[in-house]
Amino acid sequence: MNPWDKDYRQGGYRTWPCESLISWVCTHFKTGAGLRALDLGCGAGANAWFLAHHGFDAVGVDSSKEAIKAAKCLREEWDSTFKIANRDIIADGLYGLGFFDLICDVTCLQHLTEQSHAKALAEIYRHLKPGGFLFSYRLSDKTNYKDIFPNEPPAWLASEEQIGKQLESSGFINLRGLWLDREYPGHKRASYLVIEAQKEGTPCEVPSSSERSSLLFW
Ligand SMILES: C[S@@+](CC[C@H](N)C(=O)[O-])C[C@H]1O[C@@H](n2cnc3c(N)ncnc32)[C@H](O)[C@@H]1O
Repeated sequence: MNPWDKDYRQGGYRTWPCESLISWVCTHFKTGAGLRALDLGCGAGANAWFLAHHGFDAVGVDSSKEAIKAAKCLREEWDSTFKIANRDIIADGLYGLGFFDLICDVTCLQHLTEQSHAKALAEIYRHLKPGGFLFSYRLSDKTNYKDIFPNEPPAWLASEEQIGKQLESSGFINLRGLWLDREYPGHKRASYLVIEAQKEGTPCEVPSSSERSSLLFW
């Protein structure tokens, strides 16, 4: 069974977009019109909703069937247009989804092993258009994960250096990161890393969309 299904069945998910994603997107793209964005591990779809709301042709992917159900409900309730694909980004990869100007990760990649994380970055790089961005919002190695999130599936909380090395070996350039603290009940503090990285090239070099199939989306 998918380890996330139970959480989604019990309604333990967020239905509002990530504040850091909102501010990052709004400072980098006046509008997403004419551009494609992918949200990895989209959960209930709130970030994909925001991306579509900002004008992007947005796609959310998640491996949990229950997350997909929740995302479909949110899409209907909020009268949105983002597409949804039930995918495991490691086992199935991103093949067939086409190429993107922006690929977002809000606390999805942190749940991969170190090895799968490297594999995911290579796949993300391949599916970005030239000049495309990766945005990643994730818990850092300075967080006591087990203490704050005792019931969540395992996570690989990498240091800034570890992620930087993986990004560089996948070919990413213009790496930037910032630290952010969030307070949780019991005055516990979690430390987050917000990372931006770019694929080499200028945004006008749009690759062909021959890999894109409409059959993969709901
Ligand atoms: C902490 S939740 C974050 C959900 C959402 N991004 C949000 O901000 O509310 C992590 C999500 O990543 C998804 N996920 C974890 N591993 C995945 C994988 N290998 N492929 C696709 N989705 C995955 C889970 O199903 C879950 O929905």
